[in-house]
Amino acid sequence: MTDEVFTRFYRLLEQKTGISLDSTKNYLIESRLAEICKAQDQPSITEFLKALTSTSVGDLHWQVFEALVTNETMFFRDRQFFDALVQSIIPEIIVRRKGERALRISCAAVSTGQEAYSIAIALKENFPELKSWDVYIQATDLSERALHRARAGLYTRTEIERGLDSYLINKYLTITSAGKYQINPVIRDSVSFFPGNLLDPSPAYPKFDLILLRNVLIYFGQATKEKVLGHVHRQLSPADGILVLGATESILGSASYKLQQHGKISCYTPS
Ligand SMILES: C[S@@+](CC[C@H](N)C(=O)[O-])C[C@H]1O[C@@H](n2cnc3c(N)ncnc32)[C@H](O)[C@@H]1O
Repeated sequence: MTDEVFTRFYRLLEQKTGISLDSTKNYLIESRLAEICKAQDQPSITEFLKALTSTSVGDLHWQVFEALVTNETMFFRDRQFFDALVQSIIPEIIVRRKGERALRISCAAVSTGQEAYSIAIALKENFPELKSWDVYIQATDLSERALHRARAGLYTRTEIERGLDSYLINKYLTITSAGKYQINPVIRDSVSFFPGNLLDPSPAYPKFDLILLRNVLIYFGQATKEKVLGHVHRQLSPADGILVLGATESILGSASYKLQQHGKISCYTPS
């Protein structure tokens, strides 16, 4: 009975978020949901999951789903990608877009914001010519809780030391009276955060020159990956938009994407 309840819950979780778990992760469910389960006065995790799977999806379900997603991220995660971004990806886009002087970047599954702010800082540090361009950085995530933190741009000392050196900390962050570090408005205001579920069909516009979809496909099963890559395809600028995945992720055998190498970084463009 317990196994059946867990299986039904995993099916619901995958339907709504794409995240694919199985019985080897029962321990994770038990530990991550212990607090919510107690707050809901549920006698056990099994009873709680039974209640969740027999009611229509609402706020409590999303609170539970959010407790199960992995929000791990850091500033300038994967240095080789940021080197490629500065050395070839952005310079090539600048050449292609110099007519319209517009650059559109999407960070999907951005978690608590460090990825999008790293992009904004990298652009500011390395491409002063973009000052007169229309640069749009959109960042989305399923988790409202993560987005709330991202929008505030407030981080602990430990978080900022993961990826930022003292030069960038002094230049782009301010210490608050509560002892936290906040991203300065010049960078914060350059990123637009929105809720977004990768399972939902994406709007066809705007088209993006660069889409980051890093370290999220690893949580999805094959069918979900293909669906999400289909949605992302619609958002890429046709022919020359660039998709970047996480360092351990790749697209194999897709007819819709072709590989484009930027140094050691494998990117994908619509075929
Ligand atoms: C491990 S973090 C990756 C953060 C960042 N992209 C990076 O590479 O550092 C994965 C993020 O994916 C988000 N996520 C999981 N499923 C999602 C979905 N279906 N739609 C949008 N975001 C999702 C989670 O909320 C989480 O913030």
